[in-house]
Amino acid sequence: MEGGPFIYLRLLLSLTFLLTFQSLAHRRLSPSESMSITPAADAAIAEAAAFIRSGALVAFPTETVYGLGGDATNDRAVAAIFAAKGRPAFNPLIVHGPDRNSFATAVIMDDRASRLAERFWPGPLTMVLPRREGSGVSLLASAGLDSIAVRVPAHPVALSLLQAARTLVAAPSANPSGRISPTTARHVADGLTGKLAMILDGGACRVGVESTVIDLSSEIPTLLRPGGVTLEALRALLGTVAVANASQSGGPRSPGMLASHYAPTLPVRLEATEARDGEALLAFGPAADADLNLSLTRDLAEAAANLFSMLRRLDRPDFHGIAVMPIPDDGLGLAINDRLRRAAAPRG
Ligand code: TXA
Ligand code: MG
Repeated sequence: MEGGPFIYLRLLLSLTFLLTFQSLAHRRLSPSESMSITPAADAAIAEAAAFIRSGALVAFPTETVYGLGGDATNDRAVAAIFAAKGRPAFNPLIVHGPDRNSFATAVIMDDRASRLAERFWPGPLTMVLPRREGSGVSLLASAGLDSIAVRVPAHPVALSLLQAARTLVAAPSANPSGRISPTTARHVADGLTGKLAMILDGGACRVGVESTVIDLSSEIPTLLRPGGVTLEALRALLGTVAVANASQSGGPRSPGMLASHYAPTLPVRLEATEARDGEALLAFGPAADADLNLSLTRDLAEAAANLFSMLRRLDRPDFHGIAVMPIPDDGLGLAINDRLRRAAAPRG
């Protein structure tokens, strides 16, 4: 029975495998291919899911910012994410799933986590929860911590992709480490061309700032990063929520709370009432000499959605700096001011 048709069958299978693998590898490496931005139709989402299962990286839209996704259970894929972003290995990644059940074997969800999931998922909330033994999630993804950050994004393309990938997906924002997060597919291509297999284009991100990160791995819930879900909304549901301070002794609670981050090339000056010589003015509310306006009507949701793309548009060599008008520190303003302070921080 050996030989005969079986040899041919095996040969055929090996060849199919080889060709598939080669085309995947080619898609992963060829700069012309990897520059391609693909509209997120069903076939493209299926292709992206296959890339993720094969260990390749794919950029995809979420409601907050674009993510750079790879299989969270595959050490090599996770290592490739850190390499593509130039991200320090001590800064852990958020693990994404299509629903809360997808995290059942990865983390331990207590009653607080369940209530938050019920209220805010899918949505711009990330929960840091105790890692389960044998979670399957790469230790590299969580930077060796005994917690894992998990999130269910509220974007139809992200949810379809996560469903089709049939694995948890580690995804930081799809930008080189320290730079401005991407809110369009074009932003992703500008920063990461040649470093990923595919960019799924799902249009501009609705929220525009990253998810809120809340730490539930200890007794008092702690806000690690303000974001799309407001502190007020968290407190309304949980009662007491502490706020982590990046400069507190013992180092930042969230390893990602680096002072300089989200930085354009130009220096950024905050609380500006007008532009000085050579500066661009990024306004909030009515202003006579605004170069761009985050929100003429002082709408914080509109300002958050505009923030990163406007910083990018003003980051041009014909200006010497970017001056930003004051923004109130409540609601989404907390997240906006957090990003602006990091954009304005001394560069390391
Ligand atoms: O909106 C978002 O959250 C986007 C989209 C793509 O989902 N993702 C995102 O990921 O912003 P990234 O990697 O840029 O930011 C993740 C943040 C970092 O500040 C990181 O330190 C923190 O989450 N983080 C991740 N895992 C953590 C953990 N186990 N403990 C504490 N902080 C964690
Ligand atoms: Mg980021």
